[in-house]
Amino acid sequence: MLNFKNEITRFAPGRVNLIGEHTDYNGGYVFPCTVNMGIHCSAGRRNDRKLRLYSENFPQDGEREYDLDDPVMQGCWSDYPVSVIKALAAFGYRLESGADMLFSGDLPYGAGLSSSAAIEVLTGAVLRELFGLPLTDQLIAIAGQFAENRFIGVNCGIMDQFASIMGREGCAVLLNSHTLEYEYVPLNGACIVVVNSGVRHSLASSEYNRRRQECEAAAGMLNVTSLCSLSPDEFEARKHLITDPVCLKRARHAVYENQRTITAAGMLRQGDLKSFGRLMNESHASLRDDYEVSCAETDLLVQAAQSVSGVYGARMTGGGFGGCTVNLIEPSAVPEFTSAVSKAYYERFNRLPSFYR
Ligand code: GLA
Repeated sequence: MLNFKNEITRFAPGRVNLIGEHTDYNGGYVFPCTVNMGIHCSAGRRNDRKLRLYSENFPQDGEREYDLDDPVMQGCWSDYPVSVIKALAAFGYRLESGADMLFSGDLPYGAGLSSSAAIEVLTGAVLRELFGLPLTDQLIAIAGQFAENRFIGVNCGIMDQFASIMGREGCAVLLNSHTLEYEYVPLNGACIVVVNSGVRHSLASSEYNRRRQECEAAAGMLNVTSLCSLSPDEFEARKHLITDPVCLKRARHAVYENQRTITAAGMLRQGDLKSFGRLMNESHASLRDDYEVSCAETDLLVQAAQSVSGVYGARMTGGGFGGCTVNLIEPSAVPEFTSAVSKAYYERFNRLPSFYR
């Protein structure tokens, strides 16, 4: 039995991105919503300067202990919350004392539904409350991103952390990742089904960082600070400046995906799910062909979904190289969708995907 201090319990959800993939670190728009799965944390202050962490999802890792004044990374899940504590300290918010933190959750780990961002913002929100830190939700999201960039080594954008802490039930949030201006757009009962391929390819984080570098190289050749500052017309007029063919494809994805995201948010506001779905399909094709972050498993899930009548649109979601797809469906088509996609996936990969509505 763990003898952990427990003063408060809080929750943070995972997210699924409807459209706007790999645009956030290019200064563009993203359009995520939270999912109804996430992580809980019960926590309390300690009288000493120890951080003690435990996750019911990783019992094999046991209780992890860190020195608050000199936390050394341990190469397991607990590095995520500890990285946030390091980030907050770097921002000038030091904890008065150590803390006990007990985590548990139902968010599938490594499925591209942002379990790492959820644990990061949850840590920030819990510590804010325990120690009375004057942090806004946005600053907690920024600290989570900083923690991931600096201490975990993934050069992610702000989308996941922002979506987890700022998400509202029944809405997607259209976020301008350059200005951090945002707007909630009601989902109006649109039926969204997430399908988990159950695979995570090991190159995910190194390839992610590489995509980001390729985009930065393209932006440099175009002489802009970020790719998404260009409209598609401006991009077409200047694209000859990008001399590297790979960088050209990456840039084309970012610029057009940003435009699709703005258009898609407008379609959702008008209740035009058909047009929204068409943009999701285009987004997937661009992620597959130009950005090259999909994989055989997610391509098949998308292709199988798109051939079911009543499916408005389907695409991979998140960073890529496995993980989940997001599907916009007419509610009456869900049973047919589930069975057709399961069958196709099983026939090809000899395993079943998981479905979350
Ligand atoms: C990961 C990152 C996000 C974003 C997506 C791709 O989820 O954490 O910042 O870049 O990939 O859209």
